[in-house]
Amino acid sequence: MNDQSDRDGEILKNLFSEVEAFLSTDRESSCADPMDPERLSKLLHLDREGGIEDPETLKHWVAQYFRYAVKTHHFGFNNRMWAGANISSIVGEIAAAVSQTDAGSYEAAPVSVLMEKYMIRQMLDLAGFSSGEGQMTTGSSNANMIAMMSARNLVSEHMKSTGLFGHGKLYAFVSSDAHYSLDKAVNILGIGLDQLVKIPVDDHGRMELAALQREMDRVIAGGGKPFFVAATMGTTVRGAYDPLPELVRLREKYKFWLHADGAWGGAAIFSDSLKSKYLRGLDEADSFTMDFHKMPGTSLICNVLLFNKRPGIMDFVCNVGDKSYLHRKEREGEEYNLGAYSLQCGRRVDSLKWFLDWKFYKKEGFAARIEKYHRLAELGERIVGETDELEMVVPRESFNLCFRYKADGDKNRFNELLRKELHRRGLTLVAQAYIRGEVSLRLLLTHKDMEEEQLRDFFGNVVLTGRDLSGLSQL
Ligand SMILES: Cc1ncc(COP(=O)(O)O)c(C=O)c1O
Repeated sequence: MNDQSDRDGEILKNLFSEVEAFLSTDRESSCADPMDPERLSKLLHLDREGGIEDPETLKHWVAQYFRYAVKTHHFGFNNRMWAGANISSIVGEIAAAVSQTDAGSYEAAPVSVLMEKYMIRQMLDLAGFSSGEGQMTTGSSNANMIAMMSARNLVSEHMKSTGLFGHGKLYAFVSSDAHYSLDKAVNILGIGLDQLVKIPVDDHGRMELAALQREMDRVIAGGGKPFFVAATMGTTVRGAYDPLPELVRLREKYKFWLHADGAWGGAAIFSDSLKSKYLRGLDEADSFTMDFHKMPGTSLICNVLLFNKRPGIMDFVCNVGDKSYLHRKEREGEEYNLGAYSLQCGRRVDSLKWFLDWKFYKKEGFAARIEKYHRLAELGERIVGETDELEMVVPRESFNLCFRYKADGDKNRFNELLRKELHRRGLTLVAQAYIRGEVSLRLLLTHKDMEEEQLRDFFGNVVLTGRDLSGLSQL
């Protein structure tokens, strides 16, 4: 071995021992140590110099990074739509980084391209998109935008070349609880924020169909064209599912593109019972997206966007420009050059971790996991109901629990303080959201090892901290 490979070997050995230590973080310890940026900067000593190409430099900075990083694999991390990452996808991430290639061309990434196509086929079958196609994207925000772009480019056969010039106003419709990525999409695609119509939601947080129809008629009467509806399959805050079967029926009249944004709640697709409860009508949607990096636990970023019933749609909508310097079309055909369809040119190998997760846990493993999260959410709602100090801000719709501490006085301020105090004590970093102006603690259960015991601990910590804050602990 030469000196360089000895050195690289030492670097990797150091890395793996840091990784192991980080992942085996004592779950009794805190998940996060909140610090203001000035204090953290001081502790990090970012201007510290080390030797040139010195393995110690890397060892030091990785240790610093892990030391102050939020431990998202800790049971106390209840802040986002994921908690930690599947070990198989961590393996995939490392292998992808080591192989350092561009998943956009078959020539440079043959295995990853085949894995991606294999996984897309699995997902098309699950979604019931028999003659469909799909792509991995850089998250559901971009998947929502590509779906909207597809709808826009199909409005007229010239749209792709003329752009929006010479066309009347196009209108997209989402519920008022839809994700803000749809606002970004109309901004980027030239539709304009004024043409994104936000439909009120009913008591369950679902798009109100009568209001949607009224708004479509109003737009048409003014000379506009409704071209796109995004149904949210599991809204970010409440976990509500818009009524897909009814939207499918409405599409017959208004001829819009019906996209299902399942970034969060699309994971119900793995479980037969939850799929029939929450995703009825999905096989009739025009497109569907879901994040594997949310409930399924694949490491960030891992998303799939599927198109239904329109063979060749990705080529028609997404494939533009001369890529002959990159893609060897004559040999393997454009369908294996996945970069032709993605937003960016260079693409990370995200298919490997996805594929490894699928082989490691299988569909049954994902189904069991999602069903467990659902059972725990049901239990959580019961615990809130049985605990004098707590109340639901709105009833549970699916996987999300929006609850709060019943404080006297300003409930919003109290619950904001409570959340901060739980964080400061290192007990939990829980999410917070507003529902009709009311602060809610938003619990999303996404830790694959979470069981009833940890859930009860979570609520126990909320109650004890809440009592401390309201001064009741002294009574
Ligand atoms: C319903 C919904 N759609 C889209 C997104 C955006 O997903 P991403 O973070 O992968 O861009 C989210 C993220 O929370 C979401 O909840």
